Amino acid sequence: MWEKVWNHEKIAYGGDYNPEQWPEETWEEDMRLLKLAHIDTLTLNVFSWAALQPSEEEYCFEKLDKIMELAKKHHMKVCLATSTSAHPAWMARKYPEVLRTDFTGIKRKFGARHNSCPNSLVYRKYSVQLAEKLAERYKDYDNLMAWHISNEYGGECYCDNCEKAFRVWLKKRYKTLDELNRAWNTAFWGHTFYDWEEIVLPDKRTEHRDEEQTAAQTISIDYRRFNSDSIMECFCLEYEAVKKYTPDIPVTTNLMGSYKPLDYQKWGKCMDFVSWDNYPSNEDSFSKTALNHDLMRGVGGGKPFILMEQTPSQQNWQAFNALKRPGVMRLWSYQAVAHGSDAVLFFQMKRSVGSCEKYHGAVISHAGHENTRVFREVTELGAELEQLGGEILGSVGTAKTAIMFDWENWWAVEYSAGPSVSLKYHDEIMRYYTALHTQNIPVDLVGEEDDLSGYQLVIAPVLYMTKPGVDERIREFVKKGGTFVTTFFSGYVDENDLVVIGGYPGRLRDILGVWVEETDALPDDRNNSFVYGGQKYDAKLLCDIMHLEGAKALAEYQEDFYAGTPVVTCNSFGEGKAYYVGTRSEEAFYSRLVKELCESQQIEAAAETPYGVEAVERFRDQEHYLFLLNHNEKTEKISISRACTDLLTGTSYQEGQELELSKKGVAILKWIEE
Ligand code: GLA
Ligand code: ZN
Repeated sequence: MWEKVWNHEKIAYGGDYNPEQWPEETWEEDMRLLKLAHIDTLTLNVFSWAALQPSEEEYCFEKLDKIMELAKKHHMKVCLATSTSAHPAWMARKYPEVLRTDFTGIKRKFGARHNSCPNSLVYRKYSVQLAEKLAERYKDYDNLMAWHISNEYGGECYCDNCEKAFRVWLKKRYKTLDELNRAWNTAFWGHTFYDWEEIVLPDKRTEHRDEEQTAAQTISIDYRRFNSDSIMECFCLEYEAVKKYTPDIPVTTNLMGSYKPLDYQKWGKCMDFVSWDNYPSNEDSFSKTALNHDLMRGVGGGKPFILMEQTPSQQNWQAFNALKRPGVMRLWSYQAVAHGSDAVLFFQMKRSVGSCEKYHGAVISHAGHENTRVFREVTELGAELEQLGGEILGSVGTAKTAIMFDWENWWAVEYSAGPSVSLKYHDEIMRYYTALHTQNIPVDLVGEEDDLSGYQLVIAPVLYMTKPGVDERIREFVKKGGTFVTTFFSGYVDENDLVVIGGYPGRLRDILGVWVEETDALPDDRNNSFVYGGQKYDAKLLCDIMHLEGAKALAEYQEDFYAGTPVVTCNSFGEGKAYYVGTRSEEAFYSRLVKELCESQQIEAAAETPYGVEAVERFRDQEHYLFLLNHNEKTEKISISRACTDLLTGTSYQEGQELELSKKGVAILKWIEE
């Protein structure tokens, strides 16, 4: 089932525009340039709270009215922000409670942005009031396409307000202090609580040595849950405020991909559609960006999403802000579309004259005219998207493979003291994702709570925390014929980060048919090894020492006192199979393993391509779109497997013909499925 994200007849093109930072006389020229670049969508009003509300009693919408009129006159669709991600200075002065307290206990003063305490009642009252006033004022504006609540929600607060709210949150979760004391294992280091008021936030002043190391892991995980929920409540309150006046306008906020502090699996369920900001660093692989797109599509329930921000060229906060090379902006834009975006939006339309983003890339440069490389590339892409018309919009993927990616698990894995400081959850996810992605196998990213029944292969790297029901869902999935893969450091703890007693991997033990007795941690420069299918591979980071309980060993360690014991195993369970990979290995091993598993489950790649050419599919009823994206520095040849047409060039191909894709080139092949 496909569906459109919002009311636009083509892939939306445009992004953040801040005319309030410029003299009004310049606005018409901006419009001329943006129209020239085929821009049709503007994200407005992202940081205007101080201008919209000069004091506690006063609101002032005249300038925004003019901006909205300007957009309307030029037939721009509008994604209207509520401006609540930076509170006004007068508010901070009058009500210091709106200011955050940081991890070290320092109470912040007014400054920067994303700086409001999510549990401040004053912040909540005035942010909701502003959102409501905006919705009331602009509800009949027919180009209003979506609400953009706040901006890049994030961070945390450790103020007294938050501490009180934390106790309320805990009472709801645990009901009694006895249950809390049990769940938090407070008998350890004499932490028993006799009164809710004794509970304080886990930060640098209390449980933490630094951001990552805590003495009380369950308390710290609960704080992360609470903080994510608190900020999400702010989103939900504004959501309800705008819905009162515009029930049919979809509401979003811009997420940030693999952003650890917020549990986006939960957030996605509260948003009408997911949107996100893609700012890869210079070192990021094309698979890493693809993972973020797939993750964002996943948290949105598999529907198309919106690429809310990317830079047309440079960023400003990296150590070295490389230019996007010619063709790269176009390539990455289509990569987003290939993975499910129905928009290509930028931050920003016009480079600001001052402050810390004045060198961040923009469609209109400081030169102020259209004769720049970036403007030309933006214009060319705009023309292409215009020519694509309504193609692709609303189409979806049909992955048979899922990778489990869970925020609470992420927090638990990385708060764990031991077995290794080098164990990073996202890295382990990336290893399996990259193996699938570089073979063009479509992947969905799912949370522990998600339904697995539509998949044939589910991989759950480092499934350390098994929340209630997840083992049962995996058990059913495998029984019915699914292939399941998990790794070392899985099944250890329950939702309270308490060890599941009786042997690792706890609740997953019967499914996997193994008992892990011990785990060896290797320093980064050391490795063990194993032979799998006649080939030798590295065993690194962690080495589980295990006993077979029904599973078959597919490979054994070659060195150390556990040489000859199993490292990779397979258990037949019901109609399906459950694999356990007891160590971290290398790329060649992961590629081979996932290839074999996909073959045995008859899971097909989107296309056969040379390494570095990404192939991704989207479907809309009978319409089939195959995106080919050449990330390499040279021309690549791809053999066409069926008759199709390239929507970007109009060229038709027959089965067996070869398509030449120049460096950084893109093709969107379409055919109709009979
Ligand atoms: C972020 C923000 C924008 C802007 C850009 C560029 O993603 O959402 O407001 O700051 O980065 O720096
Ligand atoms: Zn606070």
